[in-house]
Amino acid sequence: MPSEQRQATVGVMESKAVPGMWGGRFDTKPDALFCAINDSLPIDWRLVQQDVRGSIAWARALGRAGVLTDDEAGLLTDELEKIGREADAMAHPPIDSGAEDVHSWVEMKLVVALGSLGKKLHTGRSRNDQVATDLRLWTIEALDDLIGQIRSVQGALIDLGHATVEVVLPGYTHLQRAQPVSFAHWCLAYVEMFERDVRRAEAARKSAGTCPLGCAALAGTTYPIDRARIATELGFDEICQNSLDAVSDRDFVVDALACASVCSVHLSRMAEDLIVYASQEFGFVEPDDGMASGSSLMPQKKNPDALELLRGKCGRIMSAHAAMLTTIKGLPLAYNKDLQEDKAILFGAIDELMLCLQIARRVIAGLKVNARSCLEAARRGGTLATELADYLVSRGVPFRDAHDQVGRIVRASLERNVELDEMPIEAMREHAPAIGADVADWLSIAGALARRNVTGGTSPEQVRKALARARTLVATNTIDSPSASGESA
Ligand code: ARG
Repeated sequence: MPSEQRQATVGVMESKAVPGMWGGRFDTKPDALFCAINDSLPIDWRLVQQDVRGSIAWARALGRAGVLTDDEAGLLTDELEKIGREADAMAHPPIDSGAEDVHSWVEMKLVVALGSLGKKLHTGRSRNDQVATDLRLWTIEALDDLIGQIRSVQGALIDLGHATVEVVLPGYTHLQRAQPVSFAHWCLAYVEMFERDVRRAEAARKSAGTCPLGCAALAGTTYPIDRARIATELGFDEICQNSLDAVSDRDFVVDALACASVCSVHLSRMAEDLIVYASQEFGFVEPDDGMASGSSLMPQKKNPDALELLRGKCGRIMSAHAAMLTTIKGLPLAYNKDLQEDKAILFGAIDELMLCLQIARRVIAGLKVNARSCLEAARRGGTLATELADYLVSRGVPFRDAHDQVGRIVRASLERNVELDEMPIEAMREHAPAIGADVADWLSIAGALARRNVTGGTSPEQVRKALARARTLVATNTIDSPSASGESA
């Protein structure tokens, strides 16, 4: 906002007896340049509903403590609800209001509507415990939404898995073909990663679940406030135990961002797999047209941009975690204005991640899998060599000897330019005399998959079980919401 406008508004506020937040101690108004760095309304406007909720809880607590009459607390509550509805209907943050941040805006509205009574709400409260409360409430909601989005990516992967149990993909180590796996097994690997992200989000949610309200500026409020009651009303699990820590603790932001970072790393790894698989060299998958772009110059191109951006956004999301840690590193107790940076960092990263998860779900849902190319690739590159070694073991050859003999057979097959299942038995017996006519049974992709029938393995039987287990896991709402369970603070 232009400085003259802000100063003028502040002047009007004062003439209408709506106090600036801290003007009494000052001779002059804040400098425009200072406002440019200090005012946070455009960013913390997103906390307006949380601020209203927190303020209602505080008004009621003041009523219970006898600081306000029941009527006063009731009037404040009604007006705050009205302000919440008004804010809800606003398309943009009220940056012309002259308010420094969302807390001042809510209070300003209250004072305009209720006069002196509006000025009573801030009794025994500070913006320090207020903003920490608001941001915790926001973070809890954001993490719930995040869990929902992660669940829908998992759902898309499980759907794709159901369609691809019988599709054989070459499994890689070192990006060299290693052993065949079911395509659904690949899908389930990412379901597992995202499941860990859900756990991390739940842990971060718990870390956000303590209520700072009543800690005031830094030393605790002087009024007989029932802090546990406020916490329960607001849906927190418990209250913060130390006022100095409560107003300066942003570990819950770090935890949410750590969860977001790991989740974005998982998205990036999945994207990288699919980018590679979508290349013409691999040709295993193709994103649908809606999730790809062409080239302005080369008419033949179909580029996996959505996937590349999933990979690319990861840097930004991870850096938010580092940015938050760096912001709090070295901060003296208790509140410092540096902490105001927490919101831009957190909101930006969560917004990006939510978008990425929506994109990931959409890409997976529209992915075409070319079963033939996958199988062709899975058949080539000696991917059945381990089966041959296992076969020799079944004939009594010690595994190390079997490994060595099969290594020689692989070399011979490379010289002949054939796959292992195309090698004449006699040629194989030169290196592995224990080989008999039944070796052909072992040199099959289907056999290789079926033999890995251990929990976590890639046999179709195990993969179907794993898909069913994953389906149940994803369908279960694992969040233990304190507000839903009625748990007291
Ligand atoms: N806008 C501030 C923030 O986000 C609110 C707290 C201000 N506290 C203070 N002591 N100046 O951190």
